[in-house]
Amino acid sequence: MCGIIAHVGDGRALDPLVTGLEKLEYRGYDSAGIAVKNGTGLDVWKCSGQVSDLKETIANVESEARIGIGHTRWSTHGPPTDENAHPHTDQTDRVAAVHNGIIENYEALKAKLIDEGYEFTSDTDTEVIPNLVDYYLERGNEPLAAFQHTVNELEGSYAIAVVVDENDSIYAARQGSPLVLGVEANTYFLASDVPAFLDHTDNVVYLEDGDTIEVRADGVNIVDDNDQSVQREVEQVDWQPDETGKGQYDHFMLKEIHTQPTSLRKTIEGRVDLDSGSTDLDIESDLSEVETVHLVGCGTSYHAALFAACLLNRCGLSARAIRASEYDLTAGTPSNNTLFVAVTQSGETADTLSALRRANDVGLDTLAVTNVVQSTVAREADEPLYIRAGPEIGVAATKTFSSQAAMLTLLSQHLARVNQYASRVNNIEALLSDLTDLPDAVEGVLQSSNATRLAEKYLDENAYFFIGRGLGCSVAKEGALKFKEITYEHAEGFASGELKHGPLALVTDRTPVFAVCADDSSKTVTNAKEAQTRGAPIIAVSTSDHSIVDTADDHLSIPDMHPVCSNLLANVQLQLLSYYCATELGRAIDKPRNLAKSVTVE
Ligand code: F6R
Repeated sequence: MCGIIAHVGDGRALDPLVTGLEKLEYRGYDSAGIAVKNGTGLDVWKCSGQVSDLKETIANVESEARIGIGHTRWSTHGPPTDENAHPHTDQTDRVAAVHNGIIENYEALKAKLIDEGYEFTSDTDTEVIPNLVDYYLERGNEPLAAFQHTVNELEGSYAIAVVVDENDSIYAARQGSPLVLGVEANTYFLASDVPAFLDHTDNVVYLEDGDTIEVRADGVNIVDDNDQSVQREVEQVDWQPDETGKGQYDHFMLKEIHTQPTSLRKTIEGRVDLDSGSTDLDIESDLSEVETVHLVGCGTSYHAALFAACLLNRCGLSARAIRASEYDLTAGTPSNNTLFVAVTQSGETADTLSALRRANDVGLDTLAVTNVVQSTVAREADEPLYIRAGPEIGVAATKTFSSQAAMLTLLSQHLARVNQYASRVNNIEALLSDLTDLPDAVEGVLQSSNATRLAEKYLDENAYFFIGRGLGCSVAKEGALKFKEITYEHAEGFASGELKHGPLALVTDRTPVFAVCADDSSKTVTNAKEAQTRGAPIIAVSTSDHSIVDTADDHLSIPDMHPVCSNLLANVQLQLLSYYCATELGRAIDKPRNLAKSVTVE
């Protein structure tokens, strides 16, 4: 939610700032802007709309500037207008700032500054930042001190970068929102996420909450929340620059659907020992006495949590999937033997982070199943379990759902092995063997899918229903979420048996029902027939020899594998269906309206 970038170095700043913003656009695409330091002052360009609109604005600009900041916005305070676009400046244009997060006490700060004669031109919380820096500069502070005084006054969550016209530094701070430093010879980048500068460097410093940093071309100075200068380790990320581009694909989403064989292989690699029929997850926590598991996430990650809860219950453990935004109201008082598993692709989702903090506060064991190394959730949980899916840029999560579900499947088998309350599941060898074959099976589904044809056939309907039971229920819900998110059509996912308890009232011959039959599915067949009797076309998502195929109007085929795998393959078919429907409808597939990836507000 909002992406920030900064550049200080030998070369020109404008191009890397623009390409960095393009890479960060998944975090918000309501407006974009850049400020650079020229020889005599600051140049600021900004506009509502996407980075492509900003590029048009600066198409003829020749700038030699080497220092600059940039921003891509997902609106929180104020609509997506030119005035509300970042960077924001003070009234004399000597300070420019970009910000990701929310300044909770901005109204009080704004009132204080207005009393001091400052004028404001936007609705944003961010505009207090450059004005506060100016306020402290006016009182004789050096730029670093002025910035630090400013940061000390801010309450809320933020990653901030500031450029001042006094010197050749960038000042930045992190509190609750991500900020990473990219290090190249004589050039530094700051950004909300690594892909923003991965074309230039894979050497990264993960800043900590409470850090402020001054970045100059000849070095950096990081000060922690105890006011001590600190050295932070430079780490090398193993993401490749081509992972952050669309390659041969029209959309990131399509690329990410098609890279699932690779991402799944990476998730599973080294974690399954087929000879002994066990998993090797390198978990240090002693989970032998866990009685209850809370799997907590939002959106697609919540659906992966639902998937895993179903599996864990089959292992005899009491497991619940809980929506992170509801955790404080619905989790009750967890017993000490509760394991809390945060499921989050980005590792930055505010709802999930807040639930994790609550779990940490009451002393639960906590794990984070996440894609982003050193993300806030990864750091604050006792242990991270990285899904290694590689960067996901499309706003609609696809490959990370598959990898989360695979990782959680491995975790469920780990718990089944080490836990005194769990019963060892039957057929674990078959499950692990099929999981190892899953990447190839996904390849097969991607090559043979008829989702394009069905997308054309069922394009213009009133609503789309997805049903399934057990593991298939989480896939049905995920199928519906993906469908509504990128097609903007009305779609709902239900437990099959629930259809007759209300939703059936909506069923007509204009409401196709996609029935996921990849597990214990005889009742789903009955429920699908109940909808068919009321005129609904039924599209079976099943193996070719499943009984539902005889009655279904259409069929999306999946291979016969362990239910864990066949359900994930059903999900791949539904991803393709959503994608091709959205393409036919001409939707903004990678940037669906009103949404952003990495939702850092509650
Ligand atoms: C849907 C989607 C969202 C995210 C949700 C949680 O396609 O991407 O529903 O799953 O915002 O995000 P993470 O997993 O980053 O916590």
